[in-house]
Amino acid sequence: MNELVLHGIPSFAAQLRKADIPKPGTDEVLIKVVAAGLNPKDWKASQRSPCPFTRKLDESNALNAGDDIAGVVEAVGSTVFEYKKGDRVAAFHRMGEPHGAYAEYAIAPVLTTFHLPPNISFEAGAGLPLSAMTAALALYQHLGLPLPTVPGKKDIPVLIYGGASAVGAYALQLAKLSGLGPIITVAGSGIGFVESLGAATHIIDYREGNVAQGILKVLDGKKLHHSLDAVSSGGSHAVITEVLVASGGGKISMLDPVQDKEWKWPEGVELKFTYVASAYSLKHAFISEEGAIADGEFAYFFYRYITYLLAKGKFTPHPHQAIANGLSGVIEGINSLHEHKVSAKKLVVRIADTPGI
Ligand SMILES: NC(=O)c1ccc[n+]([C@@H]2O[C@H](COP(=O)([O-])OP(=O)(O)OC[C@H]3O[C@@H](n4cnc5c(N)ncnc54)[C@H](OP(=O)(O)O)[C@@H]3O)[C@@H](O)[C@H]2O)c1
Repeated sequence: MNELVLHGIPSFAAQLRKADIPKPGTDEVLIKVVAAGLNPKDWKASQRSPCPFTRKLDESNALNAGDDIAGVVEAVGSTVFEYKKGDRVAAFHRMGEPHGAYAEYAIAPVLTTFHLPPNISFEAGAGLPLSAMTAALALYQHLGLPLPTVPGKKDIPVLIYGGASAVGAYALQLAKLSGLGPIITVAGSGIGFVESLGAATHIIDYREGNVAQGILKVLDGKKLHHSLDAVSSGGSHAVITEVLVASGGGKISMLDPVQDKEWKWPEGVELKFTYVASAYSLKHAFISEEGAIADGEFAYFFYRYITYLLAKGKFTPHPHQAIANGLSGVIEGINSLHEHKVSAKKLVVRIADTPGI
């Protein structure tokens, strides 16, 4: 089969190379990839990673860095009972490990694989696994907000910073399903898309400046104790912190570490770092062994719940754009993410669009 491997040193580049079709382990699924989703971590992992969990890659350890898979089950491991050859699925691949989504075949843990209902295309499905689970882990496991299965409207204000990002938009949809409110978000050129979701009760335009003041104004005296920073760059944490401090403190779920070395979280502001690898129970610097196991069990049922929500039309995939030339277009796509040229959409590749495949 063909697979695309990326490296960041000496320069950011990729090679399409031949590889054996991998075999699934006992609790894994082998998927014939139809579409793969791109993520900002693709360039962070391979280039100038600010993330403590990923390694810098040179040509000798170039990695098939795709982690969002949509396709058809080809084979399953000996303990897998939920999936069979021919099933339409999406899956979250273990980050940093071989046999990722940028290939004709990929491996995923059964834990992070879920059925794609007939109303969801492979291209749309490829934009779900990593970012939807990041949003779910942040809201429910790390901020401790009530699940959508808890009935009734709740008077719980929530701030989702970056509502046009994939993680932010999924978090907005989930916050609405959970009956939280008011739901406040921050966006710029993606505002039209965020409005179309019908989930946020208030949208602050970051291009107008004074974001913290804007949020405090719409809170109108209500206290904000729960926030998800789905941007986690450019000082977003400081804006959120200002609002939490004005509310007497609260929790902030961050997705990337704060780059400002001098930064100190003020008393009363509790950092809850969300790293989506805990979906397959990976323990990392910001989570205990027990927490990682709990996140893995949460991910097991929540991925299956996503299938249900998608089938019922209660949850929609992020808008997507298929980039030209399949795997051969991945580098260009990742560069667009790096240069912040992508607004309110997921970039995906169709493997069959790759010249020569
Ligand atoms: N820790 C983890 O496990 C984990 C998992 C997933 C993602 N992440 C990180 O989370 C971030 C979001 O990922 P993603 O895949 O959702 O990204 P994405 O969809 O590519 O995000 C692009 C969007 O970010 C919005 N944005 C950029 N700067 C903003 C700002 N200052 N204020 C408000 N919105 C802003 C833009 O909104 P406008 O179009 O409105 O400008 C744009 O539409 C990335 O940094 C990613 O690396 C971490």
